[in-house]
Amino acid sequence: MTEIKASGYRIAVIGAGAIGGAVARRLLATGHDVVVWNRTAGRSAKLVDAGALPTGSVGEAASSATLILLTLTDYVAVQQCLAELDGDLSGRTIVAMCTGTADDAKHAAQRVAVLGASYLDAGIQASPDMIGTDAATILYSGSRAAFERHRAVLGLLSTPRFVGESPQAAAIWDLTLFGLWYDAQLGLLRALDTVREAGIDVAEFVDTAVKQLGHVVTEAPVTASDLLRATYPAGPATLPEHLTVIRHLTRLRGGQTLGDGGLAAVAARIEALIAQGREDEGLTATIATMPNRASA
Ligand SMILES: NC(=O)c1ccc[n+]([C@@H]2O[C@H](COP(=O)([O-])OP(=O)(O)OC[C@H]3O[C@@H](n4cnc5c(N)ncnc54)[C@H](OP(=O)(O)O)[C@@H]3O)[C@@H](O)[C@H]2O)c1
Repeated sequence: MTEIKASGYRIAVIGAGAIGGAVARRLLATGHDVVVWNRTAGRSAKLVDAGALPTGSVGEAASSATLILLTLTDYVAVQQCLAELDGDLSGRTIVAMCTGTADDAKHAAQRVAVLGASYLDAGIQASPDMIGTDAATILYSGSRAAFERHRAVLGLLSTPRFVGESPQAAAIWDLTLFGLWYDAQLGLLRALDTVREAGIDVAEFVDTAVKQLGHVVTEAPVTASDLLRATYPAGPATLPEHLTVIRHLTRLRGGQTLGDGGLAAVAARIEALIAQGREDEGLTATIATMPNRASA
């Protein structure tokens, strides 16, 4: 195995899977010094052919690099690789580039702190073929100083976005965006299921569905602003009017394959708000902090 010597600015890519491979190829193509390690040795051969330095261990790769990218399946793999590191890694930045939970990110940050390195957590809003293009966004959280130090290199992979100094912020942001997509997509599927079951032309219906979804998109900044200002104007309907429609919908969706989308919880919340005398408010009030929840 080639002996790896420290260089001016070397990047270690730990994990040569789909994302790791795309990241390493982009870094090599932009003239960077890249060392690569992969658990299954043969999988990094193409990257070595493309100019990456091979290495026999995670420790060897990490100790020779300034920026260490863990492009691994999950945080179990991240912790296993971090457990192989010891000694003082101060001056280095370790980035966990995988999808996981807030706790996963927190535990990874704790382990990296023990090693004396800076930690960044990354949420990848991109597929491997998007890496290195403007279409990719990667969210980062953790050490702002480390993000700034490596911003130029991180900017070669995607549009980098720093989303907070708590290590878990990127994981929460990333997962929440996935959740938003699921909510919207499953809402659409539920709607298509309802109209198809009723014998309505799905192709014609979808035109009106697109317009309806567009209202949510157009009004999103206003909704966020209302939430931040803690004012909940009725907008197109008051809470009692919403409650009436939601009760009709609950009956319409009864027995549907994907369930009714949690309408019972929304109805209960609206009823509680109306009982507090907030019937003139709009739907955003449903996520207002209740006085009794705030003190909980
Ligand atoms: N692919 C996408 O489109 C995409 C998009 C957004 C986010 N992500 C996220 O990015 C991360 C990487 O995804 P990917 O598509 O690159 O996955 P992948 O192609 O399956 O690669 C996973 C890598 O992790 C390594 N690995 C797994 N367990 C390990 C362990 N215990 N110890 C050491 N190495 C281990 C694998 O090594 P071996 O070769 O030895 O198995 C491989 O190098 C995931 O968290 C994924 O959710 C992926």
